[in-house]
Amino acid sequence: MPERYRLASVDEVAPGTGKECVAGGRIIALFNVDGEFHAIDGICAHAGGPVGNGALTGNIVTCPWHGWQYDVKTGQHCLAPTICQQLFPVTVEDGDVFVEL
Ligand code: FES
Repeated sequence: MPERYRLASVDEVAPGTGKECVAGGRIIALFNVDGEFHAIDGICAHAGGPVGNGALTGNIVTCPWHGWQYDVKTGQHCLAPTICQQLFPVTVEDGDVFVEL
């Protein structure tokens, strides 16, 4: 059964930015794309880099370590169809962002 965790307040993650969060013993990368929040596995599939600290352009995040890029709305790697970061359901309630793990 999935559990719900608070990741951040809405104000902490401005549109066009992301945040590395820890929830339920996992590292989660949270992003704000034009006011819509998305959460994917925060550990890069390449070599474990911090995806949540990557630069966000539109809905594409670039891992700060070696530049792999993912669509934060789907978790899909931009070039390799077989690589996909896990995507988690996000909800916003009373100014806080929650994730289900
Ligand atoms: S660890 Fe993310 S691109 Fe290498």
